[in-house]
Amino acid sequence: MYQITVCFTPVQFSAYPHEGANAVAIDILRASTSICTAFMNGAHRVIPLSSVDELKAYAGKAVIAAERDGVKLDFADIGNSPKYFTRETIEGKTIAYSTTNGTHTIRLAAQCHQAAVGSYLNFSALCRWLEAGTRNVFLLCAGWKGRFNLEDAVFAGAVAQKLIDSGKFESICDSAMAAMDLWSLAKGNLMGYIKKAAQNERLRKINAADTIPYCHTPDQTDIVPLYKNGALERYTPVHPFL
Ligand code: MLT
Repeated sequence: MYQITVCFTPVQFSAYPHEGANAVAIDILRASTSICTAFMNGAHRVIPLSSVDELKAYAGKAVIAAERDGVKLDFADIGNSPKYFTRETIEGKTIAYSTTNGTHTIRLAAQCHQAAVGSYLNFSALCRWLEAGTRNVFLLCAGWKGRFNLEDAVFAGAVAQKLIDSGKFESICDSAMAAMDLWSLAKGNLMGYIKKAAQNERLRKINAADTIPYCHTPDQTDIVPLYKNGALERYTPVHPFL
């Protein structure tokens, strides 16, 4: 049996066993969802960058998608709402990408054996990728500026529960237990439950709350973005029954 660990914020990353694991970076509102949307609309690759200077070096060479506190950086081509990652804007292109929490979370997850980006959009494909693996699983939530957030924890619980139901995984991690309990509370009325999340108010204040339902819509793609040589690239796990 392989183990599942859930880490609720990047601040706690070093406190949890993650070496050699297949990791998932989770930032439901909105980085994970935007990245999956980008690949759904034909993006070539997404380069997660931490600093403004790194981003500016890509000016003219890539689509720059960047926000801080949810607001588009002034020199960026687009902000971080999934609705900006349209086929017209990003098909076939490289995206230089930086967000408040998501980018850092991806770069930490990349320290594990392999790192994927998980969202509701690719939920089943993500779980297929994890179940096909022969490694422990490390679910790393972006949270908000080092703090726990509900939406990422609920999603981590959904993934953990599905993996345990597969019979290949188990967990002795209290964070995983808590996350699965949150999922069991939320799953019957996900949008109703997520109204409790602080991110609702943050996004409402910047007129960006319109994409919250989309960010909680499952199985819109079979693409699992995987981190490879400094960039996220598309990968589509084979259906076991096809
Ligand atoms: C994050 O990186 O914390 C979020 O994706 C920020 C946002 O898009 O509002």
